[in-house]
Amino acid sequence: MSDIITLDDALQLRAVEESYVTPLHQLILKNKAWLQQSLNWVPFVNSEEDTHKTVQGNMMLHQRGYAKMYLIFNHDDVVGVISFNLIEPLNKTAYIGYWLDEENQGQGILSRALQGVIHFYAQRGEIRRFVIKCRVDNARSNRVALHNGFILEGCMKQAEFLNGDYHDVNMYARIIDPVSQ
Ligand SMILES: CC(C)(COP(=O)(O)OP(=O)(O)OC[C@H]1O[C@@H](n2cnc3c(N)ncnc32)[C@H](O)[C@@H]1OP(=O)(O)O)[C@@H](O)C(=O)NCCC(=O)NCCS
Repeated sequence: MSDIITLDDALQLRAVEESYVTPLHQLILKNKAWLQQSLNWVPFVNSEEDTHKTVQGNMMLHQRGYAKMYLIFNHDDVVGVISFNLIEPLNKTAYIGYWLDEENQGQGILSRALQGVIHFYAQRGEIRRFVIKCRVDNARSNRVALHNGFILEGCMKQAEFLNGDYHDVNMYARIIDPVSQ
């Protein structure tokens, strides 16, 4: 069952679905000014319908296996998102994206979500190469990659357009074969 990944007594990853549109949208609005500093899609989220369309698109991709989008639940509250923004099925490669509610940072929530989702898909033999791309100057995100066993493979020059500038982006990867876990 890939719809719910239980991490511990408090934390769960739940596959995105229509009933989560309102709480997800509220969380984006609450964190909008802050998230805009790191994520370039945030300025395009205005009405709840924008979030609804994103959810619908991701539900379809999730079901077909070309992407995955999970909401991170702490008890019954949505506190963030972790996704495979893109899956290359032939290459068994997934490109990971994530964000947290600002107030929920600094507790290891994202790291637990990351470990949970990568081992879940590695164990099933669906994905073996996991990739994190993050701006060189996104210190917290670089720490997430390094503290969770990802290896820096290189730096892509001016690869991300954010807030009026092109930024250099680090590319990290972690390879997990089912047998080597
Ligand atoms: C990137 C982001 C998700 C990181 O959040 P985070 O809370 O730092 O990450 P984690 O949940 O893994 O927590 C790790 C921190 O909690 C601390 N921590 C506390 N308890 C912990 C535990 N049990 N396990 C692991 N870490 C723990 C760690 O020391 C670490 O703090 P440090 O980086 O100051 O050393 C968050 O800053 C964010 O949403 N940023 C905006 C969006 C963004 O940049 N997304 C990524 C784009 S590439």
